[in-house]
Amino acid sequence: MPNERQFKLRTRFVATRDVREYRATVPVWVTPDDVVLEIGCEWGTTTAVLAERCKEVIATDISREVIERAREKHPGLRFEVLDAFDVPAALAFDRRFTKVYMDISGFSGYRSLLDVISLLTMYGTMLQPEAIVVKSGALKHFASLCMPWREASAQ
Ligand SMILES: C[S@@+](CC[C@H](N)C(=O)[O-])C[C@H]1O[C@@H](n2cnc3c(N)ncnc32)[C@H](O)[C@@H]1O
Repeated sequence: MPNERQFKLRTRFVATRDVREYRATVPVWVTPDDVVLEIGCEWGTTTAVLAERCKEVIATDISREVIERAREKHPGLRFEVLDAFDVPAALAFDRRFTKVYMDISGFSGYRSLLDVISLLTMYGTMLQPEAIVVKSGALKHFASLCMPWREASAQ
């Protein structure tokens, strides 16, 4: 049962279908004051796009190998190893992240939908960013079918 005193997420979730859409959100959602956590950065291609628009970006990936490659390709940017499911390790960066970008392999299929939703909820609750942009075709499709019921609105 919902009740008025329960914690309410304020984070907005932006679902994108592919990498073109994912990167196209950057000029729309990222501002010069933003501190961005990027999860699933691979070789840092999106990191470089983010870095041009925000105050600071910490880019992370579960793979040490890709992080080493990203550091070689973009020596001026910060890359760290992080498993997306280890939220305490993300908190240990000790930053007030205002935006989170999330692109993890396997997140586009419908089987991953519950994982995507649970990760978004965890990051929304623990880091409380203004927005999380996620690459997940399954979430985008699911979200397009959802609408909040409003008593007074024409449905
Ligand atoms: C499609 S690539 C990311 C591409 C990147 N966002 C870009 O724009 O170039 C997906 C990345 O997710 C990483 N990944 C997979 N599982 C992960 C996890 N549990 N936590 C963090 N990264 C993960 C992979 O190592 C891979 O580098």
